Amino acid sequence: MCGIVGYIGKRDVAPLLLEGLQRLEYRGYDSAGLVITGKPAAGKTSATLKMVKAKGRVRDLEARVPKRFAGTTGIAHTRWATHGAPSDENAHPHMDPEGKVAIVHNGIIDNADELRTKLVSDGVVFLSETDTEVVTHLIARSQAPTLEEKVRQAVRTIEGTYGIAVMHADFPDRIVVARNGSPVVLGIGEKEMFVASDVAALVSHTRQVVTLDDGEMATLKADDFRTYTTEGSRTSATPTTVEWEAESYDMGGHDTYMHKEISEQADAVDRVLRGRIDDRFSTVHLGGLNLDAREARGVRRVKILGCGTSYHAGLIGAQLIEELARIPADAEPASEFRYRNPVVDPDTLYVAVSQSGETYDVLAAVQELKRKGARVLGVVNVVGSAIARETDGGVYVHAGPEVCVVSTKCFTNTVVSFALLALHLGRIRDLSVADGKRIIEGLRKLPAQISEILATEDDIAKLAQEYAGANSMMFIGRVRGYPVALEASLKLKEISYIHAEAYPASELKHGPLALIEPALPTVAIVPDDELLEKNRAALEEIKARSGPILAVAHAPQEKADHTIVVPKNETELDSILMGIPLQLLAYHTALALGRDIDKPRNLAKSVTVE
Ligand code: G6P
Repeated sequence: MCGIVGYIGKRDVAPLLLEGLQRLEYRGYDSAGLVITGKPAAGKTSATLKMVKAKGRVRDLEARVPKRFAGTTGIAHTRWATHGAPSDENAHPHMDPEGKVAIVHNGIIDNADELRTKLVSDGVVFLSETDTEVVTHLIARSQAPTLEEKVRQAVRTIEGTYGIAVMHADFPDRIVVARNGSPVVLGIGEKEMFVASDVAALVSHTRQVVTLDDGEMATLKADDFRTYTTEGSRTSATPTTVEWEAESYDMGGHDTYMHKEISEQADAVDRVLRGRIDDRFSTVHLGGLNLDAREARGVRRVKILGCGTSYHAGLIGAQLIEELARIPADAEPASEFRYRNPVVDPDTLYVAVSQSGETYDVLAAVQELKRKGARVLGVVNVVGSAIARETDGGVYVHAGPEVCVVSTKCFTNTVVSFALLALHLGRIRDLSVADGKRIIEGLRKLPAQISEILATEDDIAKLAQEYAGANSMMFIGRVRGYPVALEASLKLKEISYIHAEAYPASELKHGPLALIEPALPTVAIVPDDELLEKNRAALEEIKARSGPILAVAHAPQEKADHTIVVPKNETELDSILMGIPLQLLAYHTALALGRDIDKPRNLAKSVTVE
């Protein structure tokens, strides 16, 4: 979703901004723009702001940047339309008619309509349909003597969420930024400063970053920065070092990020386990949990909240916690939870799951829970992200940067993180040493087993050719297999645009069986567990109605037209592996259909607005 990049220093700014925008492309957007300035002309204190915007891709913007476009300070943006359709006019930055103020904004201004009506009645002419332009005019009309004060007045007038960066022709030596609910990260360089909504845009230039808190602002000058609250009091900001390497954001020889990220899963799982296993007590150490043994014993329920793929990882997580720790657990979409006035129980442990740590619905659920006094943990990939910071503690999933809009390696690592959490809670409660040991052995086998599955890619690609012609596909699984079916079906529809449905296999006869016919292939998750015979019966029912079947199983299934055989692990952990071949199936189906795999239509990597 919307991205911000800014720079102030000595270098030629336009190429830097374009490169930064390219690094944010993965988040999803529909238009882009930038504004730059250089030093004021001799004898003048005011500079000229030069702006270029374009509907479409960053490359469309680049094509519009004039040959001579010199400047050393600039801000840029990729926009995801909320107020007003994607167009050149609605793209950011937004400037006032006099060309003094330029702003880029992520988030949504809730009282924009009201402010717009008032500004229009005062004679202001609007150039776009966006909520953001309101902020531009508020700043441009402010009589305050400094840019900081002008921005402060504006952010006190607006309601809603924002990450903003502001430039002003009369204050060409600085960029002022502010944050409320939408990430703003400062990148600290040598006599140059960067700002972005995502570290991805910074890491090729600096690894020293400062993440602003909600209600915080900052002034960036080429050789200096300072942070303060919207009330004006100074805040302390010590830069931290980003661990992810710039190369992790490159495609590394793969044709798509999705393929790269699927291929990285053995290493990613190895990383999430590293340093955490305690063989002596057959348990794991989770350093950031902030939940002592006594508190862990007092947990009566676990409620997991997430969106999209993270919600599906949470469904598997809930099953793992119930199985290993025998604590009642369930998962719910965070987007639903926050709107239904949920009962918040002091003995329930809430767990917020998010790859990005930014998803607005999850963040809002966490804030509501905290307000009601609940204890909330995070299972998050991006270190220092909003959800990681709002939660009382948690587990980092260490998947590394995930760039493709759809989540693969992070899903797997999140599920493994839940297995660690479940084992930890289990061993504090009733899970025996022998069972703890058995689970640890299973976890250790995962990376090699993942590599084994990935080695069968060519066979899966052939199967995908066969299914690429389908108009619709059914995914079924039972108990541990059902969330795997849900996630596999989501993956297929997200990137191939083939309609897909997931059902518990046990529910087939209560409705979906009516759909079964030769034109509707079913993908069945058939682990070799206590439900194997039940699952086989479901396959028979489908076969009897001439439905084609692709099984994912531990041994070839007689009733299936094809079986993808995956290695067996401990029964509780099997679901971690069974989804992996189906990531490849979705990938190769989308490839056969010529889809834009890394940037599926209408979707964004991080949904930072409601
Ligand atoms: C968007 C993405 C999904 C992702 C979901 C949750 O919908 O397209 O791939 O699963 O957000 O994102 P999160 O960063 O919170 O895991």
